[in-house]
Amino acid sequence: MTTLIDLAGHMAAEPAADAAVKDVVAVIAQACVQISRVVASGAISGSLGAAGQINVQDEEQKKLDIITNDILRDALKACPAVAGLASEELEEIETTGREGGFLVTFDPLDGSSNIDVNVSVGTIFSILPAPAAGVPTEADFLLPGRRQVAAGYVVYGPQTMLVLTLADGVAGFTLDADGAWRLTHPDIAIPADTAEFAINMSNQRHWAAPVRAYIDGCLAGKDGPRGKNFNMRWVASMVADVHRIAMRGGVFMYPWDAREPDKPGKLRLLYEANPMSLIVERAGGKSTLDGVTPILDVQPTKLHQRVPVVLGSANEVDRVGAG
Ligand code: AHG
Ligand code: MN
Ligand code: MN
Repeated sequence: MTTLIDLAGHMAAEPAADAAVKDVVAVIAQACVQISRVVASGAISGSLGAAGQINVQDEEQKKLDIITNDILRDALKACPAVAGLASEELEEIETTGREGGFLVTFDPLDGSSNIDVNVSVGTIFSILPAPAAGVPTEADFLLPGRRQVAAGYVVYGPQTMLVLTLADGVAGFTLDADGAWRLTHPDIAIPADTAEFAINMSNQRHWAAPVRAYIDGCLAGKDGPRGKNFNMRWVASMVADVHRIAMRGGVFMYPWDAREPDKPGKLRLLYEANPMSLIVERAGGKSTLDGVTPILDVQPTKLHQRVPVVLGSANEVDRVGAG
């Protein structure tokens, strides 16, 4: 068996990316190896179940939300190239006392409602430039997604995989038994067409008219306006749903809905939508608020801001946007 190139080897061959960015990616990837071990140990390590506290999102934290947040936070605080971090599980930003370098935002455990039933979960991260001098403030994190210098996710599924975009392109690595990330998917490309959609159908009655019309068209299948049958999948872990789309195409939506009209969406811009959007665009797909406006162009106004998300195969995203 030939030995597959590892993450360090892959990054060494990407001259366009800054060496310090690669250091940050290496630190995150190593922390995710640790996370994969604790996720895999489940009930054996007593890490399943609720933590008994609420986070800034008003969501009940799982024990693993806190454990995984601590692993990433500790690793990033020790990384010389990191000046600050922000997490789904931390109300405020945290700084490291260093200046320059990078800011990291992350969702340490995505899809945490799945953890107690042994369904795939993930980690999402985004790396942004820090101000050249001075201790970073919250305002320094509020950069449009196009300013990201790298982004990635790890899916803890039947295989643990890291999907990464550095300077360009999207590469996928599989974690081997020795804890090394092996390049198994060197050039991930999302097909432009698909016959598969992902949306939480239980919210159907709350959707806006264009999303209803789009899904009605898919559900009508061969007999409807699309003239072909569609398949549906919904894992309820954004990482797992987006990973499926990265592998074989599809469209993923967590659209605006009328349940809480003041909440623009469910997913968080800075550590869910933006990193996923960079990966999806770099893989040739589209990632938008509504089928039209690119998420990467949104100027963030708040650290934990939520946005609607429509992403995936380019022609299908356009179709949603056509209303
Ligand atoms: P998190 O576990 O980090 O809070 O994120 C969960 C998100 C996302 O992963 C998923 O797509 C969505 O919530 C699922 O929401 P529903 O339970 O409403 O389907
Ligand atoms: Mn999440
Ligand atoms: Mn989370």
